[in-house]
Amino acid sequence: MIIKDVAFLKSSQQLKQCPEPDRPEYAFIGRSNVGKSSLINMLVGRNKLAKVSGKPGKTQLINHFEVNQGEWYLVDLPGYGYAKVSKSQRQEFQGLITDYVSKRKNLVNLFVLVDARHDPQKIDLAFMEWLGETEIPFSIVFTKIDKLSSSKLQKSLMTYRKVMLFEWEEMPISFRSSATSGVGREEILGYISSLNEQMGDYFKAPSNGDA
Ligand code: GTP
Ligand code: MG
Repeated sequence: MIIKDVAFLKSSQQLKQCPEPDRPEYAFIGRSNVGKSSLINMLVGRNKLAKVSGKPGKTQLINHFEVNQGEWYLVDLPGYGYAKVSKSQRQEFQGLITDYVSKRKNLVNLFVLVDARHDPQKIDLAFMEWLGETEIPFSIVFTKIDKLSSSKLQKSLMTYRKVMLFEWEEMPISFRSSATSGVGREEILGYISSLNEQMGDYFKAPSNGDA
């Protein structure tokens, strides 16, 4: 897919402040500092569109960007905390995130980012389990792969797969990315493009844009 243009649209503090859900939307989520904002910038080829920081917790609001004359939305979300949570502590994911993810009508796919360098973290596994139970379509993006040798990356991805397969019948669709080298850009944009096509005329029907 070619990114012709992209523009910041709006920051929202709550779901009800978000733009009308009248076009396909793709959001990026994951722990603080995992590289959500950097990945968005890499995908659209604009270094300073989404704000990036070395300090966790930079993105605090739901940030909407419109792509290709508003054909679809990209959304940069705040990170979910860095405290370890167990299954029984799902409420710990900020209300803003759970509200947005579970109620946003036009969310076609959620990209869950995990740092390729780390062993599977409980908070990510618990979050994905909640997504499964809530029936939210998602895929995984392994970020910062430039920081690993290819053998370490392979090992890390194998470990992740094994751990996921304890809970899941199959591994969700996954991507690897580097915001510095651009690896993963074509694949992720290609995936979004194919989902946009699959959505067909859904968003053109007048009854789907009114909530
Ligand atoms: P919050 O908004 O705080 O939740 O963080 P975030 O997930 O949006 O992370 P952000 O994009 O701000 O990046 C955090 C740090 O990681 C920054 O210092 C980035 O430069 C760095 N970073 C992000 N992606 C990559 C990557 O692919 N490779 C490398 N080497 N560094 C990266
Ligand atoms: Mg951010």
